Amino acid sequence: MIAAIGAVASNGMLGLDGWLPWDIPEELAYFERTVAGAALVIGRLTYESMDVVPPDSFIVSRQAGLQLRPGCVRVDSVEEGLRRAAATGKDVFVIGGASIYEAAWPWCQRFYLTRIEMPLAGDTLFPETIPLDRWRVISELQAVYRERKSGLDVTCRFLQYEQDNPRPLR
Ligand SMILES: NC(=O)c1ccc[n+]([C@@H]2O[C@H](COP(=O)([O-])OP(=O)(O)OC[C@H]3O[C@@H](n4cnc5c(N)ncnc54)[C@H](OP(=O)(O)O)[C@@H]3O)[C@@H](O)[C@H]2O)c1
Repeated sequence: MIAAIGAVASNGMLGLDGWLPWDIPEELAYFERTVAGAALVIGRLTYESMDVVPPDSFIVSRQAGLQLRPGCVRVDSVEEGLRRAAATGKDVFVIGGASIYEAAWPWCQRFYLTRIEMPLAGDTLFPETIPLDRWRVISELQAVYRERKSGLDVTCRFLQYEQDNPRPLR
C-alpha cells in the first residue's frame, strides 16, 4: 500500500527553518514506529533535515549530480519515486515535505495525519490542494503531550484518512 504520513499545526504550518514547528518527542516516535521497515519517498529538503535515513529511501530531486547517503536513491519525480519504492515489495510511505505531499497524494490510499491542536509559527504550510475533507476518516486516536518549546500541553489527534480509487502507478 502507498500511504503518506505527516503532521500539521492548527494554523496549517508543517515546517519551520528546515525542521518541524514543534518539539513533541511522542509524535516523532509515532512517525518512526509507523514507517519502520517501509520504503520511503522523501523530498530533497526533508531528506537533508534527517539525521538517519533508512535504506530503500527514494529522494525526489531535479539535481542530477546529487550526492546521497548509502541506501538512498535519487529520483526525478514523485511518480518515479513511488514506482521504485513499490518495486521493493515493502509498504511505501511518502514522508514529505509539503511539495512532495502535494504531488503524491493522488497515488496515496491512506494519509496518516497528526493534527496538533495548537497554532505554531512556521514557514511551510500543509498544501491546501489536498482534498482530505473528501477522504474517509478510518481511525482517530487522541493524546495530550507536552510541546517542549512552549512548555504547554497540546492535544495530538492521530488520524488516518483513506481515499477510494487512488491513481494507479503506470
Ligand atoms: N510536519 C511534517 O509532517 C513534515 C514532514 C516532512 C517535512 N516537513 C517539513 O517541511 C519542510 C520542507 O518541505 P518543502 O516542501 O519545503 O521541501 P521538500 O518537499 O522536502 O523538498 C523540496 C525539494 O524536493 C524536490 N522536488 C519537489 N518537487 C519535485 C518534483 N515535482 N520533481 C522533482 N523534484 C521535486 C526539489 O529538490 P531539488 O531542489 O534538489 O531539485 C525541491 O527543492 C521542512 O521544514 C520539513 O521539516 C514537515
